[in-house]
Amino acid sequence: MRILILGADGQLGRAIARRAVAHDVVAAPRARIDVTRTDASDAVAAVRADVVVNAAAFTDVDRCEREPEAAFGGNAVGAWRAATGAATSGAAFVQVSTDYVFDGRKGAAYVEDDVPAPISVYGASKLAGEHLVRAVQPAHFVVRTAWLYGLGGRGFVQRMLALSGERDRLAVVDNEVGNPTFCDDLADGILALVATGKYGTYHLTNEGSCSRWDLARAALDRAGRRDFPIDRATAFPRLARPPAFAPLANHAAAALGIRLPAWESGLDAFFERGGHPDAAAEVEDASARVRS
Ligand SMILES: NC(=O)c1ccc[n+]([C@@H]2O[C@H](COP(=O)([O-])OP(=O)(O)OC[C@H]3O[C@@H](n4cnc5c(N)ncnc54)[C@H](OP(=O)(O)O)[C@@H]3O)[C@@H](O)[C@H]2O)c1
Repeated sequence: MRILILGADGQLGRAIARRAVAHDVVAAPRARIDVTRTDASDAVAAVRADVVVNAAAFTDVDRCEREPEAAFGGNAVGAWRAATGAATSGAAFVQVSTDYVFDGRKGAAYVEDDVPAPISVYGASKLAGEHLVRAVQPAHFVVRTAWLYGLGGRGFVQRMLALSGERDRLAVVDNEVGNPTFCDDLADGILALVATGKYGTYHLTNEGSCSRWDLARAALDRAGRRDFPIDRATAFPRLARPPAFAPLANHAAAALGIRLPAWESGLDAFFERGGHPDAAAEVEDASARVRS
């Protein structure tokens, strides 16, 4: 398959490029295809891919609150432009979305056909992106995921590891619950899903859920910092409100035999493959080997 990856320099974009070794990968960072540009649809169509994976997004959730136009420009209109280009060239389209489309008040894990109710600009912009993609490209996979971390990325796990190198102790919330997801596992899941040709909406995360405190603890323990103190907090001051309890349940992909490993196994694989901040350089080199 010829796979075009948008947002290829992001942590998920890199993981998909690294894991899609059996395919003809065209990795397009923002500098090559900026989905907010009016010519983005033509640029996408010109690649004549079989599948377009949109891993491009405005992911700074607090900046989204300050810059709603840019958030909707990148996450909604940008997704629409990219999906239009895919539809024009006959390519299936993968739109990566988020647990932030939900309000986190259900009290149980969200299934694919639960009604979204975002409580942040980022969440609303991503939901709008889902709707616009469904409107222009019936051959779509909307893949909602959560709490991503990856080799060479900027996710929560990397931030905790870096902060533990700068401070004597951390305070992390234990009342925000979700599914930590290793980008490599998600990449494998997306590639397996695309191969089914079963278009639709899917929840793809590592199995199981935990709190942010649990994840910080598990990451530092694996980094050999078992004694590093992490205080339990109940609030973390920020502009964007994350959904408090928003584990995603994988029903639709599981029905196709596609399940990701447990979150603890994802974290193990992250460290085994050099996920520790000091090992980031190696990943940089690995990603540079993919054709762009
Ligand atoms: N991170 C999470 O915890 C999380 C959770 C759930 C869902 N998601 C979704 O998963 C997907 C991948 O996220 P990620 O964690 O890999 O994010 P990331 O590491 O921030 O990567 C996003 C990439 O998109 C690029 N980009 C931004 N605006 C663009 C534009 N207008 N045109 C082209 N490229 C653009 C960025 O380029 P620059 O580096 O130049 O800005 C960056 O390389 C996104 O759809 C995100 O909404 C993420």
